[in-house]
Amino acid sequence: MTNTNTQNELKHRITELEAEISILKQQKKYGLVWEDKAEDVVTNCVSSVPVLSEVTSKKVSDNMPSENIIIEGDNYHALSVLNYTHRKKIDLIYIDPPYNTGARDWKYNNDYVDKEDSYRHSKWLSFMAKRLLLSRNLLTEEGFIACAIDHYELFTLGSLMDNIFGEQNRIGIVTVVHKPEGRQFANFLSPSNEFMLLYAKNKQSAAFQEVVLDKDKEQEFNLTDENGNYKLKNFIRLTDGKYSLRENKPDGFYPIYVSADLKEFSLKKLPKYREALPITDRGVERVWKTFGDTFMQKVANGAIVAREENERIVLYEKLRPSQVLVTHWNKTEYHGYHFGTKILEEILGSKQFDFPKSLHLLKDVVKLTTKPNSVILDFFAGSGTTGHAVLELNKEDNGNRQFILCTNNENKIAEEVTYPRIKKVIKGYGDVAGLGGSIRYYKTKLVDVEKLQKVPDEKRLSLTYQAGEMIALRENTFDEVEKNEWWQVFSSKEKTVAIYFQEDKKKLRELVKKLSNNQEVALYVFSWSKNEYTNEFAEYTNIRVEDIPEPIIEVYKEINRLK
Ligand SMILES: C[S@@+](CC[C@H](N)C(=O)[O-])C[C@H]1O[C@@H](n2cnc3c(N)ncnc32)[C@H](O)[C@@H]1O
Repeated sequence: MTNTNTQNELKHRITELEAEISILKQQKKYGLVWEDKAEDVVTNCVSSVPVLSEVTSKKVSDNMPSENIIIEGDNYHALSVLNYTHRKKIDLIYIDPPYNTGARDWKYNNDYVDKEDSYRHSKWLSFMAKRLLLSRNLLTEEGFIACAIDHYELFTLGSLMDNIFGEQNRIGIVTVVHKPEGRQFANFLSPSNEFMLLYAKNKQSAAFQEVVLDKDKEQEFNLTDENGNYKLKNFIRLTDGKYSLRENKPDGFYPIYVSADLKEFSLKKLPKYREALPITDRGVERVWKTFGDTFMQKVANGAIVAREENERIVLYEKLRPSQVLVTHWNKTEYHGYHFGTKILEEILGSKQFDFPKSLHLLKDVVKLTTKPNSVILDFFAGSGTTGHAVLELNKEDNGNRQFILCTNNENKIAEEVTYPRIKKVIKGYGDVAGLGGSIRYYKTKLVDVEKLQKVPDEKRLSLTYQAGEMIALRENTFDEVEKNEWWQVFSSKEKTVAIYFQEDKKKLRELVKKLSNNQEVALYVFSWSKNEYTNEFAEYTNIRVEDIPEPIIEVYKEINRLK
């Protein structure tokens, strides 16, 4: 080989290496790596797409404006459907996934995953990543997601959630003491707590509700005015060591003048006003909590109260119960057995399910993160504790929160635990009065589309024909009032939703005429592409036209790319 040849080869090799380095530089510097394990419920979606089919015999109704939903089926399919029906509409996602303990607590492709499975963590990560990615699209900008977990997958879940929701949106890792007594025969440490990882969709927009989770605290704030509960705290600085004394902070010691009826305050001496000074009962000269300007601002905000005690004027500040929330949650009522298992057993009459969460824990999570009209999703619903908590809270604060529970039917859990629990809680059981509320029960169903990337015409028609209940859920309008070979109509007090199935449009005008007198109408018209009929009925201002099925297909194509 000549010198020139060697030099050329070297140059070529250097160029190759430079290219490789540049690719490596673009790759992530650190993070989770796992082997993606194909999952049947996911691969099925390349040739079929999930829709919903209602089990009308399971409907529970009470004329409430919103309906609660149970979806039976694999949550990958349920979440896919929700990506069409509930984009950016969910305010709180709470999940309690299988913990992957190795004790056959979880199935992947219909097989239990045990301790010997060398892909145990990879399978769990593949499973969770696919579902969390789908769930992220559903959150509102102010929304939260909370995920329960224990030590088996805490580290992997934390990295995964940082990845999907962004470290910058991590709110915190809460320690929940669910079994303070631990387990008797543990070899080393016996877990008495588990964790709840809490993220916001966007930390800048999210905010906790002003609620008091701690009952003892609530009782402390036992006075009320037009702004809610408060307690009174002496306006003299009683803590902070030497800086609460006059001799160390002389400008904090100043007179405040109070009118005869104790309602007006002034920093200047006024006729008939009495003087108040930061001197304690024992005669110690201290300082006020703030300087005069801030004091007068507090007066303007109605936060100062004067009282006459032992012929002296004493000043108090109103304190509100917006508490500091710590990451260690250890209320007695978070005990999993006493306030989860036992409650469920009382409702169903016998033990049907292992390890439901404490009802009170779920109530506190929902209280803290949702408003009275929020939508709450739990896609590992199990026994339905989240739904139960939402119903109780609605009863307590007259709220109208709506829940969506998704669970598979492993060991008949959906049919024999989730549904009966929620139904009994709504209707009442034994001596316990019903909380009221409603349920619609759906199953996921796969519709054959041959090839999602290019759905043949006849499959488009068949998908449209079967998409009715999914559209009803999207529009929050559930009662089917008509279905024939041309159209299907759902209605509620506020809205009518119609789906026109056929390629042949000869009956479309007839349908539109029928709908023209209704208040608000969403009309889904079968079309080969997008926006074909958007302006067709512009003269009817009450009718909003939507295409079908292209938007559904687009959502499913996007999901397919996400996996
Ligand atoms: C740990 S439990 C949740 C318990 C629940 N937090 C409670 O308080 O009752 C997890 C549930 O998720 C369900 N599940 C597991 N994999 C699922 C999947 N792929 N789709 C739907 N549900 C699933 C299981 O059947 C199980 O009931």
